[in-house]
Amino acid sequence: MQTICELLGIEYPVLAFSHCRDVVAAVSKAGGMGVLGAVTYTPEELDIELRWIEDQIGDKPYGVDLLIPASIGGLGDLDPSVLKDINVNDLLPEPQRRFLDDLLDRYGVPKLAEELDRSDRPGLGGLVLPTTLADVAFEHPIKLIASALGPPPAKLVTAAHEHGVLVAALAGTKEHALRQREAGVDIIVAQGTEAGGHTGEIGTMVLVPEVVKAVAPLPVLAAGGIASGRQMAAAMALGAQGVWTGSVWLTTEEAETHPVVKQKLLEASSRDTVRSKSRTGKPARQLRSAWTDAWESPESPGTLPMPLQPLLVEEAVQRIDRAAAAGNEGAKELANYFVGQVVGSLDSIKPARQVMAEMVEEYVETVADLAGALSEE
Ligand SMILES: Cc1cc2nc3c(=O)[nH]c(=O)nc-3n(C[C@H](O)[C@H](O)[C@H](O)COP(=O)(O)O)c2cc1C
Repeated sequence: MQTICELLGIEYPVLAFSHCRDVVAAVSKAGGMGVLGAVTYTPEELDIELRWIEDQIGDKPYGVDLLIPASIGGLGDLDPSVLKDINVNDLLPEPQRRFLDDLLDRYGVPKLAEELDRSDRPGLGGLVLPTTLADVAFEHPIKLIASALGPPPAKLVTAAHEHGVLVAALAGTKEHALRQREAGVDIIVAQGTEAGGHTGEIGTMVLVPEVVKAVAPLPVLAAGGIASGRQMAAAMALGAQGVWTGSVWLTTEEAETHPVVKQKLLEASSRDTVRSKSRTGKPARQLRSAWTDAWESPESPGTLPMPLQPLLVEEAVQRIDRAAAAGNEGAKELANYFVGQVVGSLDSIKPARQVMAEMVEEYVETVADLAGALSEE
């Protein structure tokens, strides 16, 4: 059977999820595989980003990741003809809107300059569907398409295979993984609760061997809490064929992480993250801040389901990020971002190439040490 490196055409079994094209290119150039998180792009922007990556990496492989929610409270089946007639403001309940306004006032976060204010936006016609982004991605020589938040639609799997693209999907439980396999997924990413972003409740240590056993012979990548060669060796010992990483790239030189957040990440301990619905409406691990505390507080009206919560907070997050960058103290307290528990070990800014090299070197040393410990007995 092919190894994951043979399957993907990479040198080291390290995959890097990032929203930043520079990180994706750097990891693919360094012998791993960069996977671009595409969910925030318009189709035109995604096309530009993918072209740029290809210019940088030549014929090295790379991938694209889409969030395709299996369920999306309140918006039916994501039919574009329905969406264009929906006014966002009509969907957002008064208590949540008032709570958010009060929160930003309390922390002294100024409004956006007029040209950025989208409070009078007409409808959801501009909402980009993940499947539209997938169509753009398939026009490029991607090697892998990944999806999270439920099994990928059959249409996407078929299209991927027609284009010679492998399909990976994230799973937080054995049951999710089995559903992904049924949907025709080629590679399962078993993602433990330690991970940054949307995550379940089972730890990587328990989840990975469970999923490996359940979906065999499908290859499994381990995700959640992997930022070093030792952690990579542990993941491989659990039966994973490779690792899928996210948080470790946020503090690389190439990452466009907000400078205030980057500094907070460098200072954070492994206790400083929380699974919160406050950004997306589904539990996602992120840095704990005044923002997450406020949404968890007794005064909170509760979060809205996806995709209403992201629509509610989108502009607020922009306001916070802009004000924090300008030195506003309240905004700095609120600022946060998705990150996993492994944030506690991210304490300096390094080039992505160096992160890769150190991870692989420590992995090789660790495996050799373990083999040596056995043979000395
Ligand atoms: C900032 C950030 C954003 C993320 N966004 C997504 C996403 O859009 N789609 C996705 O499949 N996974 C997303 N994830 C999860 C990663 O794909 C990956 O599974 C996770 O980061 C692995 O755990 P780690 O953070 O401990 O390395 C995100 C992770 C982070 C840190």
